[in-house]
Amino acid sequence: DRLFAATYDRFIMSNLTPQTVLSIRHWTDTLFSFTCTRDPSFRFDNGQFTLVGLEVNNKPLVRAYSMASANYEENLEFLSIKVQDGPLTSRLQHLKIGDSVYISKKSTGTLVTHHLLPGSTLWLLSTGTGLAPFMSIIKDPEIYSHYERIVLTHTCRFIDELAYKEYITQSLPQNEHIGELIRDQLIYYPTVTREPFRNRGRITDLIQGGKLFEDTDLPPFSVERDRLMLCGSPHMLKDTRALLKAMGFNEGTHSQPGHYVVERAFVD
Ligand code: A2P
Repeated sequence: DRLFAATYDRFIMSNLTPQTVLSIRHWTDTLFSFTCTRDPSFRFDNGQFTLVGLEVNNKPLVRAYSMASANYEENLEFLSIKVQDGPLTSRLQHLKIGDSVYISKKSTGTLVTHHLLPGSTLWLLSTGTGLAPFMSIIKDPEIYSHYERIVLTHTCRFIDELAYKEYITQSLPQNEHIGELIRDQLIYYPTVTREPFRNRGRITDLIQGGKLFEDTDLPPFSVERDRLMLCGSPHMLKDTRALLKAMGFNEGTHSQPGHYVVERAFVD
């Protein structure tokens, strides 16, 4: 077993490259993001995830993290929760500029457009750190040629947890390359469940009660027109899946594109 463990660790390490932390932002006591250098050979599709971690006691300790940066950006960006007794995040939350983090050489994931049938509105439904892959996707100019409209929803318990809110509403629309696409085609719909806010409630309730459609001025989901990507807490995914299934939506896979795709946000 020890030989196996050592071989396994070496295998994991051989697929990781050390990168340097460039910036850190603490959004709340339980949420932070950081940027780091990117290996020139690291390639990914917007919406995918990779492995991120640290060396702890001479062993690699890695978890799946979605890239919040777009694949044309020079550096990588990740959004993470802080779990006080979490094996990785209890350490990762103390990152400082100049520290090393390990990043896998590979990326994968289901939140990619070729798992979806053609459609006209793409809904990106997220809770918590499930926002991360959608940050990458909304910065992808190509997505705006596949869909007439992109709607990004982000549900958190508290307003402070709506990471990147100002970036999405203020910086991105002014971006010299994709600002016009963002202004014309992106709708951002943040919602909060545990304190007063202009949009309140779980996304499942807002879908079922029709509030989401009233507020965005869009028609309710139809199998012909609407496509969805879901990323967030396991409970949200389970309930939203059930809701979509009841409306006749099928989940897409690599071999069989469908009406929606799902990825679980990192929770440890
Ligand atoms: P709520 O505050 O009502 O539990 P968490 O921080 O637990 O990961 O949750 C992130 C957000 O996802 C919270 O706003 C939470 O709402 C919401 N959420 C949790 N479970 C579900 C669910 N089953 N369906 C929809 N939203 C959910």
